[in-house]
Parts: sequence; C-alpha cells; structure tokens
Amino acid sequence: MNLPALRPVARRLRGMPTSDGAGVRLTRVIGTNQLPDLDPFLLLDEFGSEKPGDYIGGFPSHPHRGFETVTYMLDGRMRHKDNHGNEGLLTPGSVQWMTAGRGIVHSEMPEQEQGLMRGFQLWVNLPAKDKMTTPQYQEFGADRIPEARPSDGVRVKVIAGTVDGVEGPVRQPATAPTYLDIALEPGKAFEHAVPSGHSAFAYVYEGVVNIEGEDVVPKGDLLVFGPGEAIRVTAGGAPVRMILVAGRPLKEPVARYGPFVMNTQAEIRQAFTDYQSGKF
Ligand code: CO
Repeated sequence: MNLPALRPVARRLRGMPTSDGAGVRLTRVIGTNQLPDLDPFLLLDEFGSEKPGDYIGGFPSHPHRGFETVTYMLDGRMRHKDNHGNEGLLTPGSVQWMTAGRGIVHSEMPEQEQGLMRGFQLWVNLPAKDKMTTPQYQEFGADRIPEARPSDGVRVKVIAGTVDGVEGPVRQPATAPTYLDIALEPGKAFEHAVPSGHSAFAYVYEGVVNIEGEDVVPKGDLLVFGPGEAIRVTAGGAPVRMILVAGRPLKEPVARYGPFVMNTQAEIRQAFTDYQSGKF
C-alpha cells in the first residue's frame, strides 16, 4: 500500500490587524503585503469580537466585480442586501457564496447589537471567461452544511468538497474549491487528500495544532501547504478548530483595485466607469 505524500508547510504566517467597511476591526490573513494572494484566493479576513464597537458599523453599500465573496458565519447575525433586490440574513453556521460576476452593490450589516460576532470572509477569483457573468448566490443555512465524522473525535463541516463520502453543497467548477471547518478533540488527527496542484491553506482559529516538521501551530496562524497529495493535522492538548481551504489556481494575470479584480488595468478602469454610471 502506498501512503499519500503529505504536503509540507511551505509558509507560515500570522494575519495583520486592520479595519474595513465602517470601522469593522478584523484580522486580514490573505491579501496583505506579506501574502497578497494565493491563486485563486485573493483575501481572507477573520472577524471576531464581543465588543459591539468593533463590528456595529458593518459594511455599508459597496461594489464588487470579477470574483466571488464567501462569508462563513460562526457566531452572530449579519443582514445582506444588494442592488438587484436580493436580501438575506446570515445566521450562525451559515454560508453565503456570492458570485459578484459583472457587478453587484451590496451592504453587509450586523443585525445584532451586542454579543459575539465571529466568522470569515474569503475572496475567490473567477477566470477571465466568468468575470462578467450574471451575479448569483449559493446560500446555505447551518442545517444545509453536512458534517462528516471520519473517525472518533473528528468532525468536519463540509462547505465545499467531499470528506468520507459527505459532499458539501457549493458548486464552482472553475476553481473546484475545498472548504472544510474541522473540529478535533485533543490528540486526534485528520488527514485529507487535496488534489496535487491545488493551492491549499489552513487557518487555526481555536486551540493548537501539530503538523509534521513544524513546531506547534497556535490559533491565528495561517499555514500554506507545498506540493503533495494529502494534508494531515493533529490536535494538541486542547480541542482545535480550523478551516482548510483549497482550490485550483487560475494562473491568469490579476489586475486589482479595491473591490474590483480583473485581468487588465483597462478592465479596472472600465469597472470604475460602469460603477459610477450605475451599470452594476
Ligand atoms: Co462585500
């Protein structure tokens, strides 16, 4: 029997504290000077606070074009509204996979006035052929995100991809994403095959993880994996929660300015013109 080659940790880094929207404090993990992107992933933000002042301003009306925003709520409630008449409430455990395509203008505002607000926003690039596609949503409540239990003490919420025959609901053929929320009891291990050539990262948000060849990896560390066939993580002496995300790189030029991500500078200028003339 051939054991799969484990993917080594190629880079390990911590996110940067920043704020976005109307003063929402968050940790930017991908999309910083130290890691501008990880094709096809353009940005990863972790937001998490019990202080209303850190999140109550929310993200008032702003545009997107040329990529997808993926919001995964762990705690708290956020109301989403766009200029095409779509509206929804993101509740704990829900996922919104939004394909901005040729353009939407939306707001993402906290519905709660106090308590814990926690989650992630990931930006996934679209290939040139899909950048001007019709905007669409894949939105799933917590009850529609299936959970795999591949072994004792290991629970995996499958947002995208397949674990132990349990398939996540998200469909995106362009990047074939994997998005898993992994909970490990102390000392338990999880191994997952990730297609060779797919970019892959893990972000620990509770506890401490052990990975071969690395020191212990604490909460708040991002691990970017090198080439190989599978990723293996082991919990330290306390329960662990982490996300594991992977996807097929697009290998196309990236022209990026704020909420617009296209292939050329001319397309970025066009995005500004279209936005300012109300074509989103
Ligand atoms: Co947005």
